[in-house]
Parts: sequence; structure tokens; C-alpha cells
Amino acid sequence: MEDQQYSSWKIIKRLLSYYKKKKYLLLISCILILLATVTEIACPIILSNFINNVLKYHVLKMKKNLYLISFFIILQILSSLFNYLYTIYFSKISTEIIQELRINIMNIALKQPMQVFDQKPINSIITKITNDTESVKEFYETILSSFLKNFILFSIILTSMFLLEWRMALISSLMIPIISIIVMIHQYYSKPIIKKIKSSLSNLNNIINEIINGITIIQQFNQEKRFIEKINYINNKNYLNRIKTLKIDNLLLRPLLNLISSIVLSCIIVTLKLFPIAIIKISIIHTFINYLRHLNEPIIAITGQQSLLQQAIVSAERIFKFIDSPIKQYGNDLALLRSGEIKFKNVCFTYPGTEKKILHNININIPDKSCVALVGKTGSGKTTLSNLILGHYTVTQGKIYIDKKSINTLSNNTLRENISIVQQEPTILYDNLINNISLNRKIEEKKVINALYKSQLKQLIETLPNGYMSIIGQNSDSLSQGQKQLIGIARILVSNPKILIFDEATASIDSESEQKIQKILSSIQKKSTVIIIAHRLSTIINCNIIIVLEKGKIIEIGNHQQLLQKKGLYYKMFTYQHDYKNI
Ligand SMILES: Nc1ncnc2c1ncn2[C@@H]1O[C@H](COP(=O)(O)OP(=O)(O)OP(=O)(O)O)[C@@H](O)[C@H]1O
Ligand SMILES: [Mg+2]
Repeated sequence: MEDQQYSSWKIIKRLLSYYKKKKYLLLISCILILLATVTEIACPIILSNFINNVLKYHVLKMKKNLYLISFFIILQILSSLFNYLYTIYFSKISTEIIQELRINIMNIALKQPMQVFDQKPINSIITKITNDTESVKEFYETILSSFLKNFILFSIILTSMFLLEWRMALISSLMIPIISIIVMIHQYYSKPIIKKIKSSLSNLNNIINEIINGITIIQQFNQEKRFIEKINYINNKNYLNRIKTLKIDNLLLRPLLNLISSIVLSCIIVTLKLFPIAIIKISIIHTFINYLRHLNEPIIAITGQQSLLQQAIVSAERIFKFIDSPIKQYGNDLALLRSGEIKFKNVCFTYPGTEKKILHNININIPDKSCVALVGKTGSGKTTLSNLILGHYTVTQGKIYIDKKSINTLSNNTLRENISIVQQEPTILYDNLINNISLNRKIEEKKVINALYKSQLKQLIETLPNGYMSIIGQNSDSLSQGQKQLIGIARILVSNPKILIFDEATASIDSESEQKIQKILSSIQKKSTVIIIAHRLSTIINCNIIIVLEKGKIIEIGNHQQLLQKKGLYYKMFTYQHDYKNI
């Protein structure tokens, strides 16, 4: 069943509400459309007048005809000018509205809870920003202007018909409700098909993106044929649905409209039989039939826009559903943290939309300015735990306190300013090295350059053509994973977070650079709480607290010596790695 909030009519009303801020521009455009229509209608009238004159007097009355011709030329020029101007104005309004809509979507996308990105492919959001907004642009640029123009044309012709012969006009008016019903039936059948077309296009986008991003894997594992089959399948579905809409348009809509015109014409002929011929002049009948033919044109034009309108409605529905989706809620506490103290109290966690409990009854006390290591096998929940500290997800049960305040009360700004993470593969932006470190924060260039050298990036800077002003990220594969990690480290050296998380952040850095970075880390630790997630246990032996996780539970906790004495999982992991190193 159709969601009431997103019924076609409500969507159109919501789309129209974007005009509120552009009332005056819209008014000007409407006046221009009116002028364009009137001048357009006037041209054939003058032409028929001219022909009438010739037929009536069988001679060309030079002076009168010269006036008519000049008037005709002026009207033609004015009509083109008004047409041009209203198109420009509509384009201007639609471009401005679409820009506003795109910014709106971007803002919402940035505030989405992390689970949205876990559950939806990023590409579906990109499709909303690009393809769907383009479809909606058609609504403002083409559909609406054509509707207004044809509506005005229709009204003028209908009024003229009533003025000419009201009885015949009344019969012709019967067309309007019948056509409305046909349009509604057409809409009922075409909307679900257009929805399918949109979703298959989005799928196609996703697959193309997947192919481009994973081209090396696809080639390596000989998956080309499978992906081509996938694309062919979606393309074929898309083609069949498009054929369906064409059939509905051309087999249902057009013939029905033509049939109705013929019925109306027959009705008029019957009416003529009922009224003495003397009452209705033959010339009136001639003009009337002419008008009737013209009356059909705007109706066909408006209904012809139906499939475009349907596409715009489907796109708008997807956009509005996204805009209305819940955004991540943060607390209101804007104060910066005074300490990096972290406390977990009976925390349990299940990823939203899933069943499996990932963290079980976690209790940890991390004092300010301590160095904590999270170790454990793959999938034991280390990254999940750090995601909770970052405030990316809300705990399912229990409480997390940071600086003695419940994490739920902290504002997004407080969380981002005070808690930083260096990931295994930091994202590199398409920008120069300096901006990649400062990330548009107000940081002195000197400080950034200092951080670059401190984080062992000297060698990279020397190989880049314009040093640290060189654009990187153009092809992020041109940087090694280790270099990306060093950039990630430089990013946090220029900020002063109270809590710093390293999630496998030095796994790809060579031992020499890593040792230098360890020194920097111990200096950071004087100011911040540092949480290190590492598989290489040699990097964490100096941590104050080592937490060993297994299947989402804390099974051991203590410092390096204490855990070795326990002879548990940590001891096993450490001796295994130690022996392996000594082989
Ligand atoms: N976004 C997610 N949605 C659902 N389940 C998830 C999500 N992210 C991780 N998981 C699941 O949570 C469990 C713990 O994952 P997590 O990434 O925390 O492990 P980890 O200890 O960091 O592993 P690794 O050492 O490999 O990085 C895994 O079983 C994983 O499948
Ligand atoms: Mg992890």
C-alpha cells in the first residue's frame, strides 16, 4: 500500500512549497508565459483574418494587409522573446531550487547515523544527489512550465468556445472529467513500473561503482563474465519496464484521447440536429471545430508529460524519504572535555538491525592520560568498542561515561573535537598535503609542516613534484598504506584531542618509522588518553592497561607483566608472536 505521507499529491504539494521563497520570480515567469501564449494564439488568428480578407474581397487590399503583416511579424518576434524569457526564468528558478535540495540532501547525509552506511550502499545516496535531483529538476523546469503554458492555452480556448456557442462548449467540457479519469488510471498503472525503472538504474549505478572500485579483484579472480551477466540482467529488466511504459502511453493513453475527441464531435453533430441550423452559423461551426482540435493539444501535451511527472514524483519520494529519515541524535552539552577519563558500565551492544550481540557486559575504567591497549582475535569486538567511544552508535544496554558525563549528553561537536581516531586506512582527500592534514581547520601552516616532518613524511614530501603543496588523493593508490597511516598520524598531531584511538594505525609502517612514532605517541600520552588497537603485541607492551577481548567479552585485564603471569590468552598470543619473531 502507498505510504500516505508520500502520496503523489502530497509530494507535488511539497515540491511546490519550494516556490515559496521564489514567489516573485515565479510571478514574473507566469506573466511571461501568459504573454507568450497570448501572442502565440494571436498569430494564427491574424493569419486567418488575412486569408478571410483575401477570400472575401478576392483582391489584396494593400494598406490593410500591410498592417496585418507588420502586426504578425511583431507578434512573432514578441512570442519568441516571451518564450525565450520564460524558459530562462524557469531554468533559473529550477536550478536554484535543485541546488537547495542537493545541499539539503548533503547535510542530511552528513548527519546520518553510522548504521545507515552499514545498511545502504553509499552509491544509493550518490544516486539521490545526482540522478534523482535531475529528475526532480524536470518537474520545475519542463513539467511545470509546460503545464502552466498549456493550462493557460486551454483556458483561453475554452473561454472563447463558451463565448462563441455555449451549448456546444458545454458538450465539449464533458471531455475534461473523462480525460482526468483516464489520466488517473494511467498514473495508477505507470507509477509502479517507473519506480522499478528508478530502482534498477540505482542498482546499475551500484554495480558499475563496485566494478570500478574492485577492478583488480574482479580481474584477478576472473569475475568479468559474472559482472557482465549481472549488468545485462539489470539492463534487460530496465528495457522491459521501459517498453511497458511506452505501451501504456501509446496503447492506452493516445487512442483513448482520440476516441474521446471523436465522441465529442459526434455529440456536437447530434446537437446540431436538435437545434435549427439558422441559430448556429456555419462560420461558427468551422471556428468551433478548429478550437476543438486546438483544445486537444494542451490536454495531450499535459498528459504527455505524465511519465516525466511520474518519474519526478518517484525521485522526489526517494529524496523526501531520505530527508525525513532520522538523523543521529546527540546531546546538547557543548562544553569541551576537561579529561579523557572513560568508564564503561555493564555495556552490551548489538548493531542496529542485527540480532547478534557483539559486546557482552563490558565494564572498564580508563583513567585520564592513560595508555590502553585493546587486543583480541579478529572479530572479537575491538573496533566496535572504539566506535562506541567515538559516539557513532548508541549502546543497547548499560552506560558509557566520558569525563564523568554520560556520552549521550555530549554534543556532536564535543565528541569530534575531543575524541579522534587514526584508522588503518585513513581517507585521503583530493587536495594538497597541507590541507589533507589541516582538514580546513584553522591551523597555522607552520604547525602543519612541523607535524608532517614529525610523522616521518619527509621522504614522501621529497618525492612529490611540488613538495607539501602537491595535490594528492587524485589516485589514492599512488600512496602506500603506510604513507596514508603517517598522514593519519600527522592529522592528530595538529589537534589536541583528550582521547585518541589508534585502530591498527601503525600496522603498515616499517619498524624504524614506527619506533619514532612510538616516541611521539608517548609525548601525546602526556596530554591525552591513548587507546591502541593492535595485533602486533610488541607495540603495546608499555601500555598501562591491556584489555583482552574474546567474542565480545573481556576475558583478561591488566598490564603486560600481570597478563604474562596469568598465562591466559594474552600469554599464548604474546609467546606465539615472540617465538615466531625469533625463528
Ligand atoms: N556495521 C556492522 N554491522 C553489523 N555487524 C558488524 C558491523 N561491524 C562489525 N560487525 C560484527 O561485529 C563483530 C566484531 O567486529 P569488530 O570490527 O569490532 O572486530 P575487531 O575485533 O575490530 O576485528 P579486527 O581485528 O579484524 O579488526 C564481528 O562479528 C563483525 O561481523
Ligand atoms: Mg577492527
